[in-house]
Amino acid sequence: MSPSTLTRTVRSASPEETHRLGVRLGELLQPGDFIGLIGDLGAGKTHLVRGVAEGAQVPRSEVASPTFAIVYPYSGRIPLYHADLYRIADEDELYATGFFDLVGSGGAVLVEWLDRVPGAAPREFLRVTLRPTEEEARELQAEAFGARPAALLAAWLP
Ligand SMILES: Nc1ncnc2c1ncn2[C@@H]1O[C@H](COP(=O)(O)OP(=O)(O)O)[C@@H](O)[C@H]1O
Ligand SMILES: [Mg+2]
Repeated sequence: MSPSTLTRTVRSASPEETHRLGVRLGELLQPGDFIGLIGDLGAGKTHLVRGVAEGAQVPRSEVASPTFAIVYPYSGRIPLYHADLYRIADEDELYATGFFDLVGSGGAVLVEWLDRVPGAAPREFLRVTLRPTEEEARELQAEAFGARPAALLAAWLP
């Protein structure tokens, strides 16, 4: 993977703040954007995604609906795909789920546990790593790989 073109680090002091950061990102997302989320269980990946979905005008009921699929399609201002690769062993298994057909069909993509299957990411993407620093605080490190991801990151965290 080529070196990142832009990096930003921010601190979130609460789940609500992480949500708000997600909303701002969701307002900026365009079809084709790919966001990879890294962080242990409870790091706040899903909190961020729910914010992004709100920012992309996905109806709340869609995000709340429980499902066991690997990729959840949401329809907001643009199509949004939310994937969780926690249970995926490798790229072959991911192919079998239809992930690559879905994410290649346009829309923006959010992938939790991207580190489980790094090959899930396209050449250009934004990687967000969440790390707990205190009980309620998280450090969010965002790294852009490519020109569009860098522009997205610069707009998200100026
Ligand atoms: N600053 C913060 N940002 C996000 N979540 C936080 C924060 N502080 C505490 N939390 C808690 O951490 C948990 C994050 O859960 P979740 O978003 O499902 O994580 P993940 O998807 O990474 O497993 C929630 O229980 C949330 O209340
Ligand atoms: Mg999660």
